[in-house]
Amino acid sequence: MEFNGVAAVVTGGTSGLGEGAARALAAEGCKVAIFDLQEERGRQVADELGGIFVRCNVSSSESAEAAFAAAREAHGPCGIAVNCAGIAPGSRILGKSGPMPLENFDKVIQVNLVGSFNVMRLAAADMASREPNADGERGAIVNTASVAAFEGQIGQVAYSASKGGVVAMTLQAARELAREGIRVNTIAPGLFMTPMMAGFTQEVQDSLAATLPFPQRLGQPKEYGMLVEQIVKNPILNGETIRLDCALRMAPR
Ligand SMILES: NC(=O)c1ccc[n+]([C@@H]2O[C@H](COP(=O)([O-])OP(=O)(O)OC[C@H]3O[C@@H](n4cnc5c(N)ncnc54)[C@H](O)[C@@H]3O)[C@@H](O)[C@H]2O)c1
Repeated sequence: MEFNGVAAVVTGGTSGLGEGAARALAAEGCKVAIFDLQEERGRQVADELGGIFVRCNVSSSESAEAAFAAAREAHGPCGIAVNCAGIAPGSRILGKSGPMPLENFDKVIQVNLVGSFNVMRLAAADMASREPNADGERGAIVNTASVAAFEGQIGQVAYSASKGGVVAMTLQAARELAREGIRVNTIAPGLFMTPMMAGFTQEVQDSLAATLPFPQRLGQPKEYGMLVEQIVKNPILNGETIRLDCALRMAPR
């Protein structure tokens, strides 16, 4: 679908992969709204891109509804939505101090899975109100899973479950929203250099990079942005989860 002047929502657009997507969409001429919790940095990025920042907790229906209303008021109904907001705390099912607190599992599901669905349902409502293009297309949704949806490592049970849910929603949502001319695809990133990763020591980063067949380096957010752009652009790409991972297959630990 076309980019120029289209209203785009990017959750988690303040940092990392979301920022990469927001930059790519703005460079193509989209009106970008960043939905995130990090206000100061979010406003900086939005200003730089000539877009808007809206404080939003993706796992709250009220917060996301208000954020979509604000973005609609500023830019018109959303035509492109990219779900990048996410968290990745590690915790074992049975740790040294006993079973994982259920709240830990629930929190990750709430942000990564419920949050993605929350944004998808509201984006779809906006998109359905747009005029279709010559192909009948009204909108494109890009979700973010992880290779952990397929090869969860030890300590990633909640994260893997949340990302597996995102993968499972993809074809289902594409089928259901086809009637409205809305495509739904998911990117499953491998290892990317983002603030989530920058928290690890150089030694850990190097050892992670060494597990990548080729190229042996962490991905850059702009490379994630390139795939978002291609997914939005290509009208027949639909219902698919695409790994973006240097041929990585994660080991148990
Ligand atoms: N970095 C990687 O290697 C990697 C690999 C696979 C998948 N991913 C996924 O990509 C997405 C982006 O990750 P990243 O590495 O860019 O992380 P990041 O921490 O740089 O960015 C995540 C953003 O989400 C925001 N956020 C967190 N909870 C939120 C909430 N409830 N509501 C709104 N915003 C919220 C944060 O403020 C932050 O700006 C995540 O879903 C992550 O699981 C990342």
